[in-house]
Amino acid sequence: MDVLDVIVIMLAGLWLFLPAMLPNSAAVVFGGGKPMDFGKTIKGRRILGDGKTWRGFFGGGMAGVVLGSILMGIAYLFGKEAVWGYGGIWGGVGIIICLSFGSLLGDIMGSFIKRRLGIARGKKAPILDQFDFVIGAFLLTALFYPRWVYNTYIEIEGWHILALIFLLIVTLLLHRAMNIIGYRMKLKDVPW
Ligand code: CTP
Ligand code: MG
Repeated sequence: MDVLDVIVIMLAGLWLFLPAMLPNSAAVVFGGGKPMDFGKTIKGRRILGDGKTWRGFFGGGMAGVVLGSILMGIAYLFGKEAVWGYGGIWGGVGIIICLSFGSLLGDIMGSFIKRRLGIARGKKAPILDQFDFVIGAFLLTALFYPRWVYNTYIEIEGWHILALIFLLIVTLLLHRAMNIIGYRMKLKDVPW
């Protein structure tokens, strides 16, 4: 195991996680229409708020699945044992769906918690805003594919834990950058 192997592990971990990273940005583009909570409230506060719509959920989710399928296709060109592939086709498709929709479910959980805390739609909630989707993606994927999550992002002896740490750092930086871009493109009202 030399430095190059570890770098490949870190980059592969990021590459494989892209289907979880795209949906939330894609939801901004696809979003609109009926809110997922249909405007309903709990104790006078919206269940999720107008920032969570069905179009954003399914549009974002499909964008993640399409991206994942492309990544899987590319990995297949290099042989299915490639470290930066998802393994077999069916397992791969399952992982991609879990990553993509898990990230959106995490985002929904984040909004649910924000509303319960009385934080208005679009207002900042540090840590929750940046990592709710990562947590959702990992939880859903680990539920169905625990081995894959362990082998790719945790296994300490093989330094795979560095893939997870690298992923979290990149997420933090990317979240900041994407929100600023969304704000400049007038897709978002606030730069966070
Ligand atoms: N979006 C959507 N449906 C989703 C997720 C996101 O339509 N399931 C769109 C909405 O237009 C939302 C934007 O993407 O405003 C940005 O998403 P996010 O930052 O998660 O929502 P916020 O508006 O900031 O609301 P919250 O405070 O609930 O996070
Ligand atoms: Mg937000």
